[in-house]
Amino acid sequence: MRSLGHLLLLLFVLAVVRCSAAGPPATAHPPSRARFDTGGLSRAAFPAGFVFGTAASAYQVEGMALKDGRGPCIWDVFVKIPGNIANNATADVSVDEYHRYKEDVDIMKKMNFDGYRFSISWSRIFPNGVGKVNWKGVAYYNRLIDYMLKQGITPYANLYHYDLPQALEVQYNGLLSAKIVEAYADYADFCFKTFGDRVKNWFTFNEPRVVAALGYDDGMFAPGRCTNCSAGGNSATEPYIVAHNLILSHAAAVKRYRDKYQATQKGRIGILLDFVWYEPLTNSEADQAAAQRARDFHLGWFLHPIVYGEYPKTLQDIVKDRLPKFTVEEIKMVKGSIDYVGINHYTSYYMYDPHLPEPQKPTRYANDWNCGFAFERNGVPIGPRAYSYWLYIVPWGMYKAVTYVKEQYGNPTVILSENGMDDPGNVTLPNGLHDTTRINYYKSYITELKKAIDDGANVIGYFAWSLLDNFEWKLGYTSRFGLVYVDYRNLKRYPKMSAYWFGQMLQRNK
Ligand SMILES: *[C@@H]1O[C@H](CO)[C@@H](O)[C@H](O)[C@H]1NC(C)=O
Ligand SMILES: *[C@@H]1O[C@H](CO)[C@@H](O)[C@H](O)[C@H]1NC(C)=O
Ligand SMILES: *[C@@H]1O[C@H](CO)[C@@H](O)[C@H](O)[C@H]1NC(C)=O
Repeated sequence: MRSLGHLLLLLFVLAVVRCSAAGPPATAHPPSRARFDTGGLSRAAFPAGFVFGTAASAYQVEGMALKDGRGPCIWDVFVKIPGNIANNATADVSVDEYHRYKEDVDIMKKMNFDGYRFSISWSRIFPNGVGKVNWKGVAYYNRLIDYMLKQGITPYANLYHYDLPQALEVQYNGLLSAKIVEAYADYADFCFKTFGDRVKNWFTFNEPRVVAALGYDDGMFAPGRCTNCSAGGNSATEPYIVAHNLILSHAAAVKRYRDKYQATQKGRIGILLDFVWYEPLTNSEADQAAAQRARDFHLGWFLHPIVYGEYPKTLQDIVKDRLPKFTVEEIKMVKGSIDYVGINHYTSYYMYDPHLPEPQKPTRYANDWNCGFAFERNGVPIGPRAYSYWLYIVPWGMYKAVTYVKEQYGNPTVILSENGMDDPGNVTLPNGLHDTTRINYYKSYITELKKAIDDGANVIGYFAWSLLDNFEWKLGYTSRFGLVYVDYRNLKRYPKMSAYWFGQMLQRNK
């Protein structure tokens, strides 16, 4: 029965794809007669008050990168260096949400989403990082927030998504300097004061691990530093210094919120951490220890200090003197500095112990892990790959990742704050709209999330990445993560089948 069902579904899908490929250009009309298989998922399957939304970041969607008073961020400089971004693309225009936010919020509403996780561009508010305010930037976020509230979309505001003001990079090497802590806390304070009457859900940083590792260990992301990078750097030390300053900046901002605003504004604040599930390749003790090291170097690097007030023991033992130390005062500030934690989860890998000789000299953060990555076991792939080279589709990893956070960190309040998959940028419009692989991705991952919740994980929300195709960092526009297809020639939005799938799954009882 199962396989017959699959066959029929496949035939149906092929028929749909073939018809539209042969027919006139696809339009944004909903397949209103279609009834999707939601795999039993619905609002009723989740705890009361559970929030469904989509996530995006300022730099990836806003456009107007150097207009209306915004100062440059480190990515504006990074993308201008030829060869850094696929096709030398920039985010100067991207999908122009700066002007099209109403249309985008309307799509969220139409698809029955409850919330939008957006980010605020620091250099749009403070073009120099500190000091003079750009009131046009403030007005933009006021317009966006007010319109979301008018349409019943709850704002989840993130204060930092890779986009450090360039002025601070120039002045004191940005995140490498302890000066960043005060500058960031002042910026956060301004946002709480200005938007906190309406924004009740805050995040301090998105993926600080990616900031530290890709910005300072391999140099793939702005500011492009590493041991052998032309921008300079030291992959053995700088990632740890940056991570430390990010943790302190996060904690300082949370302290401001709690001391000055939380009692009256009655909101919540947390941080967004990326987490890959690391499954031991074999049952050997060596491979299990390797997988645990990977989890510690990835998630524990940030979540351990925030929950327990110190770095994981594995990091202390391996990184030794290169790992900065928290003072007693700092521990007080860092420990317990979240009301919830956002977990961004996309993929899983097998980990093994490569049995390498002890290095003579530390080289870099990635080598400190002392782990081998595998993408198949006994010749069986861990899962099919999406377009991004790093994104294997492994639904069961969702259950394990969420359950790990529950078990290792005292079952904190979690928001599953990013999840999704990409198609290649050059997929045709009709094929892009018939995104059955994406529907299956969401259905299977959300099913695993529900299992983890049913087994006791305290998860209160889920955010798909992303509403729209948009600027995907190094990949530029060659990767499409959206529930909505964007035609980059005219920036028209076309909801994909996955958007309508969410719309059906999230129908409210009338
Ligand atoms: C990017 O710009 C550099 C320098 O102008 C040029 O050599 C290279 O071919 C460009 N790459 C693409 C894909 O256009
Ligand atoms: C830097 O380059 C040298 C020479 O190619 C190489 O041996 C070394 O492993 C590189 N270091 C890092 C941290 O990538
Ligand atoms: C998209 O680009 C890839 C790689 O350049 C190519 O193999 C593929 O045929 C292209 N697909 C379409 C639909 O143009």
